[in-house]
Amino acid sequence: MPSVVVVGTQWGDEGKGKVVDILAEKADLIVRFQGGNNAGHTLVIGGRKHILHLIPSGIFHPEKTCLIGNGVVVDPAVLLKEIESLETAGLPVPPGKLWVSENAHLIMPYHKAIDLGREAKKGKTRIGTTGRGIGPCYEDKVARRGIKVGELLEPELFGAKLKEILEEKNFYLEKYLGQAPLSYQEIYKTYLRFGERLAPYVTNVSEKLAVARAEGRNILFEGAQGTQLDIDHGTYPFVTSSNTVAGAACSGAGVGPTTIDYVLGICKAYTTRVGEGPFPTELKENTGEHLREKGGEYGSTTGRPRRCGWLDGVILKEAVRLNGLSGLAVTKLDVLSGLSAIEFCEAYEIQGQRWERMPTRVSLFQELKPLLRSFPGWKDQLSRCRSWEDLPPEAQDYLRFIEEFAQVPIVMVSTGPAREEHILLRDPFDL
Ligand code: IMP
Repeated sequence: MPSVVVVGTQWGDEGKGKVVDILAEKADLIVRFQGGNNAGHTLVIGGRKHILHLIPSGIFHPEKTCLIGNGVVVDPAVLLKEIESLETAGLPVPPGKLWVSENAHLIMPYHKAIDLGREAKKGKTRIGTTGRGIGPCYEDKVARRGIKVGELLEPELFGAKLKEILEEKNFYLEKYLGQAPLSYQEIYKTYLRFGERLAPYVTNVSEKLAVARAEGRNILFEGAQGTQLDIDHGTYPFVTSSNTVAGAACSGAGVGPTTIDYVLGICKAYTTRVGEGPFPTELKENTGEHLREKGGEYGSTTGRPRRCGWLDGVILKEAVRLNGLSGLAVTKLDVLSGLSAIEFCEAYEIQGQRWERMPTRVSLFQELKPLLRSFPGWKDQLSRCRSWEDLPPEAQDYLRFIEEFAQVPIVMVSTGPAREEHILLRDPFDL
């Protein structure tokens, strides 16, 4: 009955969706615990590409229950559209297959308008958000003026809250951001309709998880974004607005720390980042372009080209510490095939000094230089590799080095986008 948490070790887009989809085979319940539809999990199943933004990637397995925890911020329009498009693809999503926490906060139209308006006003100093209203929604949650999913089910209370909040938001939108005000009636009517459709899915997720655990079920917690985008531990202010580290699975789903048995960190064989902020191993020339094209490194939420660079061991070590990683899954190893040499960042240099960690001061971000170690590349394509022995010796050496550097065992290697293109060395559920 283990509970396994999956988190990103970099700046998101590590391929968590695919790993969750594979691990979901052994899980009974799959839970999202933070973030919102800023996430985009791409899965290729039966040759067909699916992108999920809110619903856990385990949804493609029949008989599994997917849950959206209290720590997630939910845009009901996006959630309902996702349910609809899965159903159109022949995958029914009835209540019971999917549950949504009554305590999750709602992304409202003013959250999106503020997110976009602020970024436009900031210009060059923007964060490069996904524009989905994530930050403004978490702000309201913490400021105790958010609206929870459960409150949609009480029209009178919802209307009164909305009226009060919208007055302030419209003032800010018009007077400060120079944006058009939003209509109370329109939001009220639209959101009540959303509420009616979502009502059968709304539940107490924490209780459901406690019952499942008592029954001996396997639970998989699916993180979104990555460790360096964590609001406390990431490259602030170029971060998202939630805690993305493994500990957030507890507060974001309503389970205690003692119920977590294993934390799996997902690490892409190179690094990518979307949006602004420091990226010490970024490759701005040919190799970066090559990785972007070969790896299909375009945002699955916004379509933006991702910045690409070598694997950064400094942030990997931070991810090990911040998440208490039990194991690593290395993804997209196939993208490195064909390169004559592969580089790995062992440390940074700042003003002539060696640094073993990411600085926390913005003023130092510009000064970071990666100290790189070179590895011989390999030519073979990896998509047919199904065991460790199938991997070229150079790829094995590179993986062994990562494992030793991070001091965490590699338990899975992903060798292509399709579900079956992976090597599972040890299943985290087999404790
Ligand atoms: P926000 O989460 O939309 O507020 O965006 C804040 C920062 O996090 C921006 O740099 C985004 O590009 C980044 N970000 C948010 N979600 C993801 C994700 O799922 N993958 C990668 N980057 C993300």
